[in-house]
Parts: sequence; C-alpha cells; structure tokens
Amino acid sequence: MAASGFPVAAPIGLVRSAAEDPALSAWLGRVDQLVDAACRRWDLDKVAALPAQYSVVLEVRQPDGAPAVLKVIPPDDFAALEVPALRAYDGESSPRLLAYDETLDAALLERVGPARPLSHLPDDEATRVLATVMRRLWTVPASRLQPPNRLSDWATQRPAIMRSRAGGRPGLVPPDLLDQATEILRCWDSSVDDVILHGDLHHANVLSSDRCGWVAIDPCGRIGHREADVAAMLRNPWGAELDVERLRARNERRLDILRAMLDLDLDRCRQWAFANSLDLAIWSAVSGRPDDFDHLFAVALSLRE
Ligand SMILES: Nc1ncnc2c1ncn2[C@@H]1O[C@H](COP(=O)(O)OP(=O)(O)O)[C@@H](O)[C@H]1O
Ligand SMILES: [Mg+2]
Repeated sequence: MAASGFPVAAPIGLVRSAAEDPALSAWLGRVDQLVDAACRRWDLDKVAALPAQYSVVLEVRQPDGAPAVLKVIPPDDFAALEVPALRAYDGESSPRLLAYDETLDAALLERVGPARPLSHLPDDEATRVLATVMRRLWTVPASRLQPPNRLSDWATQRPAIMRSRAGGRPGLVPPDLLDQATEILRCWDSSVDDVILHGDLHHANVLSSDRCGWVAIDPCGRIGHREADVAAMLRNPWGAELDVERLRARNERRLDILRAMLDLDLDRCRQWAFANSLDLAIWSAVSGRPDDFDHLFAVALSLRE
C-alpha cells in the first residue's frame, strides 16, 4: 500500500530558495521519492498535503487507521534541530514524535487535532497563548536536549555569514545596521538562565490540541536565554504589515503582555529579534525571496533601538 497517490507540492518559499541552492534543488528533485519511501517504511497511506511554509508535510493514515503527520525535512541549517527538540519535549506541549528515519530525514508525528492555528485569534489573545506555551516549554529541563546545541555558539557564527551575504549586494542593508546586529550577535551570552528555546514560535506553529490544549510544532531547539524565543512571534503574521511605525506599535503591545506574564528583559527581546530579523532578511534577499526581505527588513527597523 501507500507509495502512490498524489505527488507532493513543495511550498513556494522552498522552491524559490532551491533556485539559489543546489543541495536544496537536488532534494526537491527527489522529494516525491523520499515521501514514498517514508510511506513504505511505516506502511502509511497519504491522506492530504498540509499547508507548510518550508517543509513537505502530509496528513497520513497508519496501518491501524490512526491519523498521523509525515514531515520530510529539507537539508538546511534547521534540519538537525527539530527532532532533538521533539524528543526533549516528549509530547509535553508538542506533538509526540512517533518515529524518525535518519536516512530519509523524515519524521512521523502525532496528528494534533483540531489543529486550529493561533492566527485565528485576536492579537492580544494570541499573544497570551504564545506566552503560556513558552512558559510551559521552558520548564522542560535543558539537559534533555541532545545534542545540546547552544544558541550562543550559533549566534557568534552569524555576523561573518551575514556580512558575506550582504557584501554581494551593495546597498541592500545600511552598514550601521549591520554593525549593530554584529555587536548583538557576537556578544550574545547564554551562560545563565538556560532553557530549551523553541526557536520558531510564531502563530502558525501553535495549534489547538484536544489532548493538551495549545501545542507547539516545528521547533528549532537550541539552548539559550528565554528572551530569544520572542523573536519569531514579532515577525508574524508574515508580510501583512510593512509600515515600520505600525509594526513597532503592534510589537510593543505584544511585548507589554509578555513582560506582564513572563517577566522578560524587553531590551534583550528587542535586540535579539532585531539582529535575527536582519540576518533572516539578508538570507531572504540572497535566496530569491525579495518579498520576504521587505517584510523582515521592516520588522528589523521597527525593533531597532
Ligand atoms: N503534528 C501536526 N498535527 C496537525 N497538523 C500539523 C502537524 N504538524 C504540522 N501540521 C500542519 O502542517 C503545517 C506545516 O507544518 P510545519 O511543521 O510548521 O512545517 P514548516 O516547517 O514548513 O513550517 C502546519 O502549519 C500545520 O497546519
Ligand atoms: Mg511551520
């Protein structure tokens, strides 16, 4: 059974990035085979494609008829971070990892239901849910993340990558912004107050679950300071708002709610979110996604001191 049915459609962001990235392009060329191999491996039937942003994700049926989600992960910087985080969370505020095949880089996940995303809620309510999910995820002991990837190790490598990418696009980003982001990333210290950071906790990555309330999917698990986990939600919803002052007002309101619920250092939240958004903006520009650059650059400007 399985290994048949509809071909998978890769998300547009992935297709655009693949045009600039030979490894990703090769992966896209064989993603149908990877999906079919995963279906054979676990004896799954494909049910429907799910609306992914950067991976190939399908609803599937297991041999006993139970629903599950198959996620085939592209070969990039984030690929190695999702499965260790799901293992560490162990189904607490996240879907259970039912199986993982390293050769295919395919994960079989508990299907969360009804899986209503947070983007359907009014903004303040969504922010309060995000704060609650963060608080729960941060209680998972950092020692459970294996290997123990650290955000600070990653951060210190970013300035060189960011500068080399921006160097190929003169005028893309003002030098003083690059300097400011470089300083933040170089000095990012995560030697105290360590938690497992979700790393991509935004509205589309939080789903309603009958089993345990709201759950976080799609983690990029690294160990670090809590304040870094706020960045992803400040960038969402994606592309809907490009006005810097309106973005600032919206995000300051969100940050006020987070401070009241989580006792965060908001300056550190803004600093990380600024540097991280600028890094992602530059990556988007060199990956053939100019719309994403415009959005991320506006977010970075809105968070700048
Ligand atoms: N465990 C799950 N249960 C139900 N739906 C899921 C699950 N995992 C992913 N999805 C659906 O698939 C979409 C894409 O999954 P996600 O892991 O966020 O991929 P991407 O890395 O492309 O963002 C989600 O927005 C959600 O609609
Ligand atoms: Mg996602």
